[in-house]
Amino acid sequence: MKITGLLLVAGAALSSTAQAITWKKADTIVGNDFYNKFNFFNGKDPTNGLVNYLAKEDAVQKNLTYVKDDSFVMRVDTVEIAPSGRNSVRIQSKALYENSVYILKVKHFPTGCATWPAFWTLTWNLTNWPSGGEIDILENANDQFDYNLGSIHVDKSCKLTQNEQSGTIVYDECYAYNSENAGCRIAMNGTSTTTWGDKLNKMGGGIVAMERDFSSSGKGVRMWFWDANSNLPSDVKTIGDTVNPDNWGKPAAYFNIPNCRDSFDPHSIVFDITLCGDWAGNTYEQTSCAAQYGVCSKQVRDFGSSFNDSYWDVTGLYIFSDDGNNVGTTTIAPNATRDVTASATLSPRSADQQDGSPVMVSTTGITAVFAAVLAVLIYYAA
Ligand SMILES: *[C@@H]1O[C@H](CO)[C@@H](O)[C@H](O)[C@H]1NC(C)=O
Ligand SMILES: *[C@@H]1O[C@H](CO)[C@@H](O)[C@H](O)[C@H]1NC(C)=O
Ligand SMILES: *[C@@H]1O[C@H](CO)[C@@H](O)[C@H](O)[C@H]1NC(C)=O
Ligand SMILES: *[C@@H]1O[C@H](CO)[C@@H](O)[C@H](O)[C@H]1NC(C)=O
Ligand SMILES: *[C@@H]1O[C@H](CO)[C@@H](O)[C@H](O)[C@H]1NC(C)=O
Repeated sequence: MKITGLLLVAGAALSSTAQAITWKKADTIVGNDFYNKFNFFNGKDPTNGLVNYLAKEDAVQKNLTYVKDDSFVMRVDTVEIAPSGRNSVRIQSKALYENSVYILKVKHFPTGCATWPAFWTLTWNLTNWPSGGEIDILENANDQFDYNLGSIHVDKSCKLTQNEQSGTIVYDECYAYNSENAGCRIAMNGTSTTTWGDKLNKMGGGIVAMERDFSSSGKGVRMWFWDANSNLPSDVKTIGDTVNPDNWGKPAAYFNIPNCRDSFDPHSIVFDITLCGDWAGNTYEQTSCAAQYGVCSKQVRDFGSSFNDSYWDVTGLYIFSDDGNNVGTTTIAPNATRDVTASATLSPRSADQQDGSPVMVSTTGITAVFAAVLAVLIYYAA
């Protein structure tokens, strides 16, 4: 009896002292920073798209990427006929992050038939994907959905439950091989905000934020979305040295899986636009695209002008972490595939975390440990 009472006290202490991390600015990536802080991937598309991903020099020379004023642009080639696949761009950050917050300001999202764009974070070591995890922050294919989709793919069962969010859980199981590789998915509809498509682009784009927090007080993965006309939280509107997502209101997507932390290792950030492939190719016929172009591969080959809206125009990417640092850096082999990929230099702190020790010792953790020790001591004394 005594021990039960004491454990309840410990539980109360735990929740009352739970504190959010103050996220500290770790990186600002605007304009030409994308050329220095990201690697250009020019191997075969691991998702089987009908694209030729170009090396940096090639992509710059063909003007598939450029920087102008406050825009970093990445786009698909619009040359009319592309008999051997259409040129495109996929970039991956050199820096790796664990617990972190990302804010991406976008002026134009890639839209259109055959187009499968994504902004996501991915395990640095793809050898055993889905081991290490994948978090998809912005994604759609053939504009099949008129809202953005957030998804997570992991290597074992990990389930979402209903939670405070404006979006809708479409798939609740994050295990990658559960529902044809879909992972768990939250549709970002039900918000007062537009989250995808031409309408969003015409408004001037939008801003997405993702918090990944598997620390002892962490909530798992949360995402917020604002269109260009939204009232932004002050620390999102004007990027400063810290952010506090707890002040941002109800998330658009809340993957409440703090207990799945072992499924996530250091991630790099990926931006890409692929065409057809495992998703856009496989669902092409379920969309109005088929009536317009026939089959996906035909659109890619013969209809270059249909890709005039397949581009990212990004104002900036801002990254925050618990200590203001990244956890290491990675290189990707230029023609990396799923089998031969990256090498990374990880900081010792990150190696510790791989062993399951907490990222940060919060007051919550300390309170809980003290309370538990105290409870055991009193139990034995009694
Ligand atoms: C690249 O394309 C953009 C947009 O069409 C254009 O403004 C810019 O002048 C082009 N740059 C070069 C080097 O062709
Ligand atoms: C990547 O993961 C594989 C499989 O777990 C492992 O054998 C390999 O050593 C890892 N690569 C590096 C460079 O650590
Ligand atoms: C949001 O999308 C899901 C999945 O497509 C759908 O089931 C749900 O009805 C939609 N909700 C709203 C409010 O549009
Ligand atoms: C792309 O082409 C369509 C159809 O002609 C047009 O409505 C749209 O404004 C174009 N987009 C851009 C960015 O030029
Ligand atoms: C990567 O692949 C492309 C085309 O498949 C080829 O042109 C290029 O030489 C390869 N690069 C390396 C470093 O192997």
